[in-house]
Amino acid sequence: MRKPFIAGNWKLHNTVRESLELIEALKTSVKDVTDREIVVAPVFTALASVSRALQGSNISLAAQNCYPAQTGAFTGEVSPSLLKDAGCDYVIVGHSERRQLLGETDPFINAKIRALAGEGLGAIFCIGETLDERETDQTLDVLHTQVTAGLKEVPAEAMARIVVAYEPIWAIGTGRTASEDQAEDAHAFIRGLLQGLFGLSVAQEVRIIYGGSVKPDNVDGLMAQEDIDGCLVGGASLKAADFSRIVQFA
Ligand code: G3P
Repeated sequence: MRKPFIAGNWKLHNTVRESLELIEALKTSVKDVTDREIVVAPVFTALASVSRALQGSNISLAAQNCYPAQTGAFTGEVSPSLLKDAGCDYVIVGHSERRQLLGETDPFINAKIRALAGEGLGAIFCIGETLDERETDQTLDVLHTQVTAGLKEVPAEAMARIVVAYEPIWAIGTGRTASEDQAEDAHAFIRGLLQGLFGLSVAQEVRIIYGGSVKPDNVDGLMAQEDIDGCLVGGASLKAADFSRIVQFA
């Protein structure tokens, strides 16, 4: 049975003080939740403080990005080992905002995933199609390319720490959530791809989560789908009450 995985991607929001205020509110509201994995992803500058605040709680820490090298002349970058040192358990990679705004490619994202695996860190591996790709029936081809290229040469044993996040780009930040059927169809296809790459038992264990305008009023229907194992939440994760309700989906 896959343990549900609910993560909040705070994106470029919150000072250290605001991050700690949000964390304290969240800790209180989800303190009795033990049957699902809860993760928050603050900005880099708040990671160490939030990590200390999360000690002893049921909430894990993620970074929003990393560089695929452990040390060296890479000005401005942050390595998996430094993120582990700061208390991170996971790192978000391949988010569409980085693919689109910063030109991150599948091979570069693959290098990050392999670097994280080498450090024993989990990856929240984001994939998803644009509105044009969906409207021109390219969705499955896009997902096939992103999954196979992103997970190239990733050892099967690392898949236990990798969460695949299907985030249709046209649903991110738009309030236009994918329908339950659209999301389930994509998730089932992704699980089939994982079976082809790693075999049935690994594919059945990998959490595939949905992201794109997840809100308190739509999370229950999404989580009722067979192949939706959790959510990657943006805007709603910045409000403790909303994120707490999403975490406590029915
Ligand atoms: O990484 C999650 C994010 O892309 C979804 O954002 O605001 O649509 O929940 P939002």
